[in-house]
Amino acid sequence: CFSPELIHLYDLRGKIVVVVDIFRATSTMVAALANGITEIKTCADLDECRTMASQGYLIAGERNGIKAEGFQLGNSPLAYLTGEYEGNQLAMTTTNGTLAISKSSGADEILIGAFPNLQATVSYIQSRKKDVLIHCAGWKGKFNLEDSLYAGALVKALETSHEAEDDGAIAMKSLYEKEGHDLKGFLSQASHAKRLQNHNIDSDIDFCITLDLFTLVGKVENETLIAVENW
Ligand code: MLT
Repeated sequence: CFSPELIHLYDLRGKIVVVVDIFRATSTMVAALANGITEIKTCADLDECRTMASQGYLIAGERNGIKAEGFQLGNSPLAYLTGEYEGNQLAMTTTNGTLAISKSSGADEILIGAFPNLQATVSYIQSRKKDVLIHCAGWKGKFNLEDSLYAGALVKALETSHEAEDDGAIAMKSLYEKEGHDLKGFLSQASHAKRLQNHNIDSDIDFCITLDLFTLVGKVENETLIAVENW
């Protein structure tokens, strides 16, 4: 599924839904969980996020790729890599990624997908023996290259255990087989990569396209995103 606008067309019951927002929400969530954030609450809007601050949550807000007014954190994965926020609970809202997570309710399990923990996500899925739907956050309802290329990478990695039945999955697997050897080169043409470059935050891109830095799996349990290590 290439957009949260289309997720209603799919039956999520019994499935693992992998929510993908490579630039940058799910990459940032994985970075945060891997560096000591204990849990992540995804918020529908900036105000909901702000109320979480009064409950002791660290808050992170992004709109159109830049840090929201008055927020301490935007949506850069690099902000978490120092371990400065270890032990904190995080509440975050982003333009597309947190929306896609909220629209995936109804699934048996909701995971977040990112290149820095791709193989961990593959291993987890293969241990569960359920059908999988990959839910790309896209950009404001539109298809985007980076989420779709990750979807192709995941379909490719799962090919020994899961048959790709959806035309989109088959198409993205072919795209990944053709372009996956040079993620940076191919994704330099992605609209959101250019948007981030315009805001001088393209340094985030290298992190978002680095494979298998972490062994954690990001999973939504009781409407809270946590890291699962030994399943
Ligand atoms: C999103 O959620 O749309 C993206 O993560 C936006 C961004 O922070 O680059």
